[in-house]
Amino acid sequence: MKKGEALIKIEGMKYYIITFGCQMNKSDSERIATVFEKIGYKPASKIDEADLIVVNMCSVRQSAVDRVYGLMPKFEKLKIKNPKLKTILTGCVLKKDRRIFVKGFDQVLKIKDLLRYQPKYSNNFSVFVPISNGCDNFCAYCVVPFVRGPLVCRSYLEVLKEVKNAVKKGFKEIWLLGQNVNKYRSGLTRTPTHPPPSCRRQAPSTRNNAEVNFAKLLRMVNDIPGDFWIRFTSPHPKDFSDELIETMAKCQKVAPYLNLPVQSGDDEILRRMNRPYKISQYKNLVKKIRAAFKKYRKGLEREIAISTDIIVGFPGETKKQFENTVKLFKEIKFDMAYIAKYSPRPQTAAYKLKDDIPRKEKERRYKILTEILKNAALEKNKKFVGETLKVLVEAEQREYLHGKTQNYKTVKFEGPKNLIGQFVKLKIIDALPWGLKGILI
Ligand code: 5AD
Ligand code: SF4
Repeated sequence: MKKGEALIKIEGMKYYIITFGCQMNKSDSERIATVFEKIGYKPASKIDEADLIVVNMCSVRQSAVDRVYGLMPKFEKLKIKNPKLKTILTGCVLKKDRRIFVKGFDQVLKIKDLLRYQPKYSNNFSVFVPISNGCDNFCAYCVVPFVRGPLVCRSYLEVLKEVKNAVKKGFKEIWLLGQNVNKYRSGLTRTPTHPPPSCRRQAPSTRNNAEVNFAKLLRMVNDIPGDFWIRFTSPHPKDFSDELIETMAKCQKVAPYLNLPVQSGDDEILRRMNRPYKISQYKNLVKKIRAAFKKYRKGLEREIAISTDIIVGFPGETKKQFENTVKLFKEIKFDMAYIAKYSPRPQTAAYKLKDDIPRKEKERRYKILTEILKNAALEKNKKFVGETLKVLVEAEQREYLHGKTQNYKTVKFEGPKNLIGQFVKLKIIDALPWGLKGILI
């Protein structure tokens, strides 16, 4: 379907989107929603009311793929009840799975074919703005370069336009997304066939602005007037320049929170993962980032929260090598960590290696890191007790409202539902490892 092409209008039909995976997939789903609304579909509030089900899948771990396989019997049953029901699969799909899914779904579409429209935002306070798509780092364990292709950056003008629009609509949180955000360069386009307009080569008049790197983009977003926070994910340690460190710390709208994936605390494992940095360099980077926030921020913002991504049980990871990750965890004291057990992915370089760490051992390593993380996070969270924090209210869960502080801590508190989407001030009265408890003031 091309922009401007005559569209067949569909009346009275409903769609339902199931999204798996990262924020990038969530952002893609917001654009998929627009595609179907353009042709007349309305959102279904429940899956069994839908005439069209779109599954936006993730292939990063086998467990995510298995969840899609798990949905197929359910779709069969739904089709008996509603013979008109159509199912579409899109997102990050591996070749090997595509061959099977074409039999189970009515259509398997490339995500690029669906992303030609503005997103239909799933809320009115936090927005995902993709600044690039794809990745050419080829970390040995990762499918992303295979399912999303090489790094393609959007024009900075287009990114700024989208952010300005969102701010004008009252959005309070802007997430700049990319698989390797800090390798962003406006004009860096190596477009395969049929790129969506957002990724096309820019017109000659804007191509001499190819010098807009991520730090510069961050400064431009920060300069947009309004009361909002800027967050981004995911940066690669190898591309984290001093310019970016200083920019982050100086730009007061950039929230004092950073997810900085390290993946392993051992130099040899990093080398085998094709992650081109040493642990000493990572530690130095964290030190510089922490120091910059101390220098350029005031009050509680001087303490930037840092989270990381870790894989335990990469092929051949010895107990001694794992101990280096334990050591790193104890030293850095992360605020949060997304710990994954290694899952072999077809097409990747590591797929050729024997997945030789038994499931139980991966589980043991996972638990050890979780325990260290829990203690460090609790220690950090306790520092907030008695403080007053600005919180963006996100949702209601059971009888509590939930929100996020600037440094991405979850806070629960009692309050009226109409505060969802607003900034509030909360006095923190209790700290737990995975969050805080507050009261409205
Ligand atoms: N197995 C386990 N975890 C993985 N990740 C990526 N690929 C794999 C894999 N094959 C994790 C990494 C990455 C996060 C998004 O998912 O930690 O940062
Ligand atoms: Fe995957 Fe590595 Fe690219 Fe991240 S940087 S998306 S882990 S290949």
